[in-house]
Amino acid sequence: MLRVGINGYGTIGKRVADAIRAQPDMTVCGVAKRQPDYVAVGAAEDGYRLFAADADQLEGFRSIGIEPAGDVTDLVERSDVVVDATPSGVGATNRPLYERHDTPALFQGGEDATVAEVSVTARVNYQEATDAEYVRVVSCNTTGLARLVAPLEEAYGVEKVRATLVRRGGDPGQTGRGPINDAVPDPVSIPSHHGPDLQTVLPSIDVDTIGLKVPTTMMHVHAVNVSLTDPPSSVEPIRDLLAAEDRLLTIPDFAGIDGAGTLKDFALDAGRPRGDIWENCLWDASCTLECTDFYCMQAIHQESDVVPENVDALRAITGHCDGPTSQRLTNEHLGIGTNQLHERVGLARDRQPAD
Ligand SMILES: NC(=O)c1ccc[n+]([C@@H]2O[C@H](COP(=O)([O-])OP(=O)(O)OC[C@H]3O[C@@H](n4cnc5c(N)ncnc54)[C@H](OP(=O)(O)O)[C@@H]3O)[C@@H](O)[C@H]2O)c1
Repeated sequence: MLRVGINGYGTIGKRVADAIRAQPDMTVCGVAKRQPDYVAVGAAEDGYRLFAADADQLEGFRSIGIEPAGDVTDLVERSDVVVDATPSGVGATNRPLYERHDTPALFQGGEDATVAEVSVTARVNYQEATDAEYVRVVSCNTTGLARLVAPLEEAYGVEKVRATLVRRGGDPGQTGRGPINDAVPDPVSIPSHHGPDLQTVLPSIDVDTIGLKVPTTMMHVHAVNVSLTDPPSSVEPIRDLLAAEDRLLTIPDFAGIDGAGTLKDFALDAGRPRGDIWENCLWDASCTLECTDFYCMQAIHQESDVVPENVDALRAITGHCDGPTSQRLTNEHLGIGTNQLHERVGLARDRQPAD
């Protein structure tokens, strides 16, 4: 059993903790956060050992009836590996703590790529993390692009990727973020940083990205154009190729899922924890081939698509098993590919009237 400490128990940290709990070969030895708030109460009720991010915050937890198991240093000492899910930029400042304890660590996509020896997403470069002590799991948007582009590159070769990323303004709990009534080029300069980030896992891909932010907390939506080197004669083989990917969920037109709102409603109806969608959601009807250009639109659930990637990266960094085995284990124990969400799409597909 791999003992994993979670430093930072927010949007990503709490989801990664639950995903680790679902696995047969790893356990959460504790979670660290700063505020004695509802999330802390939830962690304690869920049976997680809680550690204070700073020693001077211990009293705050006691004042709401939670006895902390120690501070973050104690958590690192007890962990075989740490998942750092603190806010962007804080992870880098935590690295010396992990180094002092000779404890390997995963960082998240909000950190600069230089925080770790390697950036990963399981489908693409799991193997590169196997000898690393510090690994960065790429961001939600980069994970979403990599999962889409990697199979296209393998099957047809990719000349160029052009992607417009319509990003959610903030997560549901981030009341201070925006915009609240605008559509903002962000960054206004082109290309955005997402293309170079994709190249941290797919260095040979020629990619330009454009970023915007809009007033929603639901999901990101990507409009993607991929120029293929050796395309098939119709879009059907591309559809089949992408539909065969475990972490790509194809949304059939007749399902009536017309946006991120219905996708989230669908996930909640299907019983997904927190309404999470770990897979890219690719609108089938958007898949189009024009000569060598493949076009599509996909939604990315920013709060959860990196969660299975963190679980796989833990196995990679500790040399537990190979990539395909890890991805199969993660998928099986989370319910990716075999869960109600997929079954519902499958069932709906079966119910289509025959032509
Ligand atoms: N949210 C997303 O959509 C998303 C998607 C992919 C990747 N990421 C990346 O994942 C990382 C975490 O993001 P998040 O959205 O999960 O953040 P978050 O919801 O703000 O959670 C951050 C957690 O870290 C704790 N924390 C805050 N400041 C800290 C500090 N100075 N030292 C130690 N702990 C501190 C917070 O504790 P308190 O709450 O007690 O203050 C909270 O538990 C970032 O690198 C982000 O870019 C985020």
